Amino acid sequence: QRPLRRLLSCPGTVAADLRREEQSSGNAETGSEDRTPKKRFSVVQNERREQAQRTVLIHCPNNINEKKFLKFLSQHGPVNTHFFYESFGLYAVVEFCQKESVTSLQNITRTPSLGPEAAIPFKSRYFNLKLRTSVNQTSELSSIQCSNQSSPSSKKLYQLLCCAESVDDQLNTLLREFQLTEENTRLRYLTCSLIEDVAAAYFPDCAVRPFGSSVNSFGKLGCDLDMFLDLDEIGKFTAQKTSGNFLMEFQVKNVPSERVATQKILSVIGECLDQFGPGCVGVQRILNARCPLVRFSHQASGFQCDLTANNRIALKSSELLYMYGALDSRVRALVFSVRCWARAHSLTSSIPGAWITNFSLTMMVIFFLQRRSPPILPTLDYLKTLADAEDKCIIEGHNCTFVRDLNRIKPSGNTETLELLLKEFFEYFGNFAFNKNSINIRQGREQNKPESSPLHIQNPFETSLNISKNVSQSQLQKFVDLARESAWILHQEGKDRPSPSSNQPWGLAALLLPSVTNNVPLSKKKKKPASERIKNLLDSIKSSGAENSTATNGR
Ligand code: CTP
Ligand code: MG
Repeated sequence: QRPLRRLLSCPGTVAADLRREEQSSGNAETGSEDRTPKKRFSVVQNERREQAQRTVLIHCPNNINEKKFLKFLSQHGPVNTHFFYESFGLYAVVEFCQKESVTSLQNITRTPSLGPEAAIPFKSRYFNLKLRTSVNQTSELSSIQCSNQSSPSSKKLYQLLCCAESVDDQLNTLLREFQLTEENTRLRYLTCSLIEDVAAAYFPDCAVRPFGSSVNSFGKLGCDLDMFLDLDEIGKFTAQKTSGNFLMEFQVKNVPSERVATQKILSVIGECLDQFGPGCVGVQRILNARCPLVRFSHQASGFQCDLTANNRIALKSSELLYMYGALDSRVRALVFSVRCWARAHSLTSSIPGAWITNFSLTMMVIFFLQRRSPPILPTLDYLKTLADAEDKCIIEGHNCTFVRDLNRIKPSGNTETLELLLKEFFEYFGNFAFNKNSINIRQGREQNKPESSPLHIQNPFETSLNISKNVSQSQLQKFVDLARESAWILHQEGKDRPSPSSNQPWGLAALLLPSVTNNVPLSKKKKKPASERIKNLLDSIKSSGAENSTATNGR
């Protein structure tokens, strides 16, 4: 069920876009071929960014009257869409039709006086609404419907999975329940836009852009918000202004390297967020990391944010993943299930460490789909051959060129079911020669490992980097053991499946349950007869209540 959405009439096309998006995601859910033309990544990014700039975030009193609230706001111009959500209080996200309405609203807003405390007068787009007179609650308590920003509980997920009609239906159900909603996506772009306002105090032409799972179509409700401070627009602007024989340059401060420049910029932005950023708490400056970042919580949205700078390649890899996710409706369903499976078995974690990351798992699924016969996904090298002059993109000497128009890539002729693909995925990686081979989505085939890390997945653009360098041998072994076990469970089940009405976990639900091997490699265990293993499995369901075994926060 989609959360409530209100679309007030506006001459803009956003409402129509939303409906179209809803239709196309509907198609993805049923697995049928989606024939609507697909938007380019850059088009989506620009539209969403512009939309976020016309949007405000308002902390509201719980007894607010929605109709009166909208009437009050519309004094500043027509409201295009709005929704409410709860996160330690009631919040409204309100998108105006015009940007001027935001300024108009800011002009009638006052800076609070807090008694003995003093406020830092920062005029942001994050407001606090108070009621002047207390209203008669019983008559005014119109039911405000809140859009849900978190993923379903494990219990609800199991119920949904157990009632599904087939394993394919289960994978699509999981996708539908965990994928970012329209509202959550809007909130992510709005949060970036609010941070951009802070950064713009130093760099007026900057952009703060989301990347990673918030935009690559593989984000789960609750996943972190990766953003990067883009100062390239400033550079471009000066380049265009040169004319004739004169070349004007800004007087600037020079620092020893690009890295030092990034560290200095992030250092002041971090300080600024910490000191003045409304709703930004727990600001940590992690400037000595390979990719320097500022980590903080944005309280009102509930997002854990990682702000980086000078990170164009990561945005390009987000675009590539977005393309792969859009090419075939099976891709996202499979990635979501593998990510949830990994989280359920603690193969991934919200704490950085020697574990596999969601990004690596996504690459593994893409690679696996490139290896099917016929392939479900094309290789990156093939996407490069389809590129035209405008697609050409070199970042810091790395060739990041690939075709960006999704409609120029022919759909795959492969008709394998999700059930088969999931089983084969586990079998494929349960038997992969990780000791010898590297995973490479550029060529779509195994390569000899160039270095000795247990797991080697080549970064698609910075090809000398291994995106899973952090993974230890024991974590890889745990992945392999669980993959084998899951393949085995699906294989056994295929023969003797409990009826969906029996209320017993089956298919994907059985795979998300705690492992019967208890992390002891299968090779070291005396194999028990199948009947006993199934009995153990059922016992473990009963004892754990299956309550805490799936991730709800995505990291
Ligand atoms: N990235 C990368 N190399 C890595 C790790 C990350 O290029 N070794 C880039 C990827 O583009 C990735 C993004 O940084 O998508 C964000 O990283 P992360 O938050 O770890 O992954 P997500 O894809 O956002 O997944 P999650 O939902 O777990 O946050
Ligand atoms: Mg992320």
